[in-house]
Amino acid sequence: MNSIKHIDLIREYGSDILDSEGMKIEKNCVQHGIYSVYDHSLFVTSMCLRIAKKMKLHVDEKAMVRGALLHDYFLYDWHNKSWANSIHGYTHPGKALKNAEKDFKLGRIEKNMIKRHMFPLTPIPPKYKEGMILCLADKICALYETFGGIKHKHRIRKERIRK
Ligand SMILES: [Fe+2]
Ligand SMILES: [Fe+2]
Repeated sequence: MNSIKHIDLIREYGSDILDSEGMKIEKNCVQHGIYSVYDHSLFVTSMCLRIAKKMKLHVDEKAMVRGALLHDYFLYDWHNKSWANSIHGYTHPGKALKNAEKDFKLGRIEKNMIKRHMFPLTPIPPKYKEGMILCLADKICALYETFGGIKHKHRIRKERIRK
């Protein structure tokens, strides 16, 4: 399944999430480098679908898409310097779950995916395979965004120097 089909599937299962007010906030919150939390959430969701397909895992696709889209639904800029943001890595899954439960109807898989997605930084692992896939996809995408973002910044700087 290619990324265009992934987008169709993400739209089919998560259009209410994508069009929500919360996602508008995510578009204005930086996640890694040049990527917003919204970009990151879409990238991670697509990566979850790719991993499940590659590993031939039978998953609840709807729950996986919705849980992945909402995994970082904490709705603030964690780059602002504050004590609360210094422990963001540990606290944001709980905040994301609280916000997501307020705005959407969630099943047990989605709830557990959001709550446990920072494993192994937070010690309790996800209960379902959809959550394990999310953990893996989140780390892959975070690495790509961080280093891809740095590469992109270097390219822009080089182009500016050349002019
Ligand atoms: Fe996260
Ligand atoms: Fe994430």
